Amino acid sequence: MEDLYRDNIIDHYQNPRNYGTLEHPDISYEDSNPVCGDELRIDLQVKDGKVADARFSGHGCSISQASASMLTEEIIGKTLEEVKQIDKQYLLDLLGIPLGPVRLKCALLSLKVLKAGAYGLHGWPGEDEE
Ligand code: FES
Repeated sequence: MEDLYRDNIIDHYQNPRNYGTLEHPDISYEDSNPVCGDELRIDLQVKDGKVADARFSGHGCSISQASASMLTEEIIGKTLEEVKQIDKQYLLDLLGIPLGPVRLKCALLSLKVLKAGAYGLHGWPGEDEE
C-alpha cells in the first residue's frame, strides 16, 4: 500500500501539477524551509471567495514538491474557508507515507506558505501540537 503512495509522490515530483506562477495573483507568498534553505512560492487567484486557480514554484526535494503539487490540486475550487480547514494531518494523509521530523518540515512547507499567504498564519502547521 505504501508503494502506491510512494509512486504517487514520485509522479507528482516528476510531473508537478500547477507548477509555475500566475500573472496577476490575488495572493502570492513565498517562504523557505530553514532546515535546507529550499524555497517555495504559492500564487492564488480568488474569485467569489473560491480558489479559482493556484500555482506553485520554487525548488526543493521530492517530498516538498510533491506535497505542493498535491495541495494545489486539492485547493482549486474550494472556498477560502474550506482551504483554511486543511490541516497537517490532511496533507500527511495525501502523502501517505511515514515521515521523520526533517521530512515532516519538507512535507508541510507548502501548507505553511499557503496559510501564511492566505490567512497570515505563521509557523509550521500543527507545530503547537508537537
Ligand atoms: Fe528542502 Fe525537503 S530537503 S524541502
